[in-house]
Amino acid sequence: MAAVGRIVVLGAGFVGGTLAQRLAESDLAEEVCLVDIVDGLPQGKALDIQESAPILEFSTRVTGSTSLGALAGADIVVETAGLARKPGMSRSDLLEKNAGILRTHALAVREHAPKSVVLVVTNPVDVMAHWFREVSGFPAARVFGESGTLDTARFRTFVAAELHVAPRDVTGFVLGTHGDTMVPLLSLTSVGGVPLAQLISADRLRAIVDRTRKGGGEIVELLKTGSAFYAPSASQAELVKSVALNEHRLLPITAQPSGEYGLRDLYIGVPALIGRSGVERVVEVPVTAEERAAFDASVAAVRTDLAVLSRLPRTG
Ligand code: 2OP
Repeated sequence: MAAVGRIVVLGAGFVGGTLAQRLAESDLAEEVCLVDIVDGLPQGKALDIQESAPILEFSTRVTGSTSLGALAGADIVVETAGLARKPGMSRSDLLEKNAGILRTHALAVREHAPKSVVLVVTNPVDVMAHWFREVSGFPAARVFGESGTLDTARFRTFVAAELHVAPRDVTGFVLGTHGDTMVPLLSLTSVGGVPLAQLISADRLRAIVDRTRKGGGEIVELLKTGSAFYAPSASQAELVKSVALNEHRLLPITAQPSGEYGLRDLYIGVPALIGRSGVERVVEVPVTAEERAAFDASVAAVRTDLAVLSRLPRTG
C-alpha cells in the first residue's frame, strides 16, 4: 500500500519532471501529479512516466494538469516552479519574479491543500521557502526547502572521488545558504566514522569545499542551457520519502530555527529531523569559530534578499 495519497509537483521542467519520475518509481503515493502553466507539458511528461509503469513495476498513478485546482487533497507539495536567471537580469529582478509565481502557488496551496507539507526548491531557496511560509500562513514545520541535501551530496561525491571510497560512506553536513556562502562542516564530516582531516590534506580539502560551493554553477557552465536536475531531484526525492514514510531522517535542509543557532526569524540551511509532520526539530550542532563566522555571513546574505521582498504584497 502507498504511504500517502497524493504528491503534487508544481513545475514540470527538468527538475519537476525528473522528480515525478523518481517519486513514481519509488511507489510512495497513490498519485503523483505534475502541474505547469504550459499546456501539454505536465500531461505529456505524466503520460510518458506512466507508460514506464509495466516495465518498472510501480503502481503510482501519474497525472498532469495546468490547473492549480489539482492541488486539492495533496499530502505533500513540491514547489519547483520559477525562472532561472537570464543574461541582463539582476538578482532582485529574479527574486521579485519568482516571489510573484510563488505567491500565486502559496495562496493556492493554502486554499486547496491546507494540511499539506511543502518542500520548496525554487531559488534562491532560503528566501523562497521563507516567502512561501509567510504567504501561505502555514506553520514553519510544514514548509521547508531543499539545499544542504544537494550540497552535501556534491561534497560527498567529490570526497569519495578523491579517496576512492564508496560515496555512501562519506557523511557530513553543509550549513548556511544554498549559494556561495554555504558552510561545509568539516569538523563533522567523516568516512565510515574516520574524521576527514585524517584522510585528506588541508589543501585538497579547501579545493573540494570551493568546488562544492560552486557546484550548481559548474553544471550550468557545462550544460549551457539550464541548471542541474539529476542530483537535485534525487535529493528532493530523499526528503519527500522521509516525509511520506515518516522516517525521521536527520538531513541538512532550509528551515526556520526556533531559537537554535540564535535564530527564529528566517530560513537558513540547518540539520533537521524530517517526518510525516514536516520539520520535527532543528538540530543545533557544535561549530568552530570560523564556521560560525561563515554561517553568520550566510544569514546576512539571506537578510539582504529578504529586504528586497519586504515591499512586495503578500496577498492577491
Ligand atoms: C543547483 O545547485 C541550481 O540550485 C541548483 O544546481
